[in-house]
Amino acid sequence: MTNEVVSQVPRTTPIKRIALLCSGGDSPGMNCAVRAVVRTAVGNNLEVFGIQKGYAGLLEGNFREMDASSVGNILQHGGTVLQTSRCPDFLEQEIRKEAFNILKRKKIDALIVIGGNGSFNGAYALHKEHNLPIVGIPGTIDNDISGTDYTVGFDTAVQTAVEAVDKIRDTAHSHERTFIVEVMGRRSTAIALHVGVSTGAENIIFPTKDVDFQELANDIHRGVKRGKHSSIIIVAEGDKPGLSYKIQKHLMTDHQIIAHVCILGHIQRGGNPTSLDRFIASKMGFMAVKSLLQNEYPVVTAFLNGLVEVVPFENCLGKKTEYEKPYQDLVRALSI
Ligand code: F6P
Repeated sequence: MTNEVVSQVPRTTPIKRIALLCSGGDSPGMNCAVRAVVRTAVGNNLEVFGIQKGYAGLLEGNFREMDASSVGNILQHGGTVLQTSRCPDFLEQEIRKEAFNILKRKKIDALIVIGGNGSFNGAYALHKEHNLPIVGIPGTIDNDISGTDYTVGFDTAVQTAVEAVDKIRDTAHSHERTFIVEVMGRRSTAIALHVGVSTGAENIIFPTKDVDFQELANDIHRGVKRGKHSSIIIVAEGDKPGLSYKIQKHLMTDHQIIAHVCILGHIQRGGNPTSLDRFIASKMGFMAVKSLLQNEYPVVTAFLNGLVEVVPFENCLGKKTEYEKPYQDLVRALSI
């Protein structure tokens, strides 16, 4: 039975059945993208299957057919109704072949992947090795995918961290304390940069750079001298959480500064998506299906110069470089 909703997108493709999965760390707004993909697909008479738990679920054949009501009342919620996973097995060509055979058995013509760098590299390998039509939707709180200015979830994660730091500032001020607040982002420093500037932090520290403890201590002492009641240092987590404890120890041992540590952790991955994340994810989900209907793949729905557009998948396989120094200088200039 064909859908009675008027098709929005002119179709030039033989693609009839598509599948969709979320992969890697979840990010707020993934549900908005899932909803947009499903509703656009259904509205254009495509059959659409949700794969539960990412590539791991694909390998287990964990598929379910979705219709317009399967995605009702989800766009305001964090996490993803499709659930997600990290699947290191997918780095192996043999495993990807198995995945392709499962997709073939299920008569899936194309795959949409919502995720970050690792997930995109897996999808692209699947395309290269088996000529599978694929579309990527950038979804990670880290905002570190090359070829797109934005990844779904970043704004919400930053907002969550900013609200947490504001609360820490309240108690830091009352007790005249220094706090080291560690934010997520693995090798990406984007969250730290935005949170640092937005909370009036005294300093931002990156795991990849040597920390100038003397300068850090001078900044804190200067603040105290001019009557400041609190100092906040934002730390980008790097490879694994915990760098803050090393900084705390140095400050105590070498500069007699007592600092309290707060590692925000996974709180930054949850919560209701902001309107920006909802808006961009919805547009990206729509554009992902539109590309397939117009036989345009392999592509990624990228956010560039304020617009969502599709770009070649190859553009989005790398890591984005952040220009850290100007932000670091900015927080120091504004926190004198
Ligand atoms: O999804 C991105 C991210 O949240 C990074 O910021 C963080 O380093 C990592 O995932 C944590 O991953 P996991 O939850 O699998 O430990």
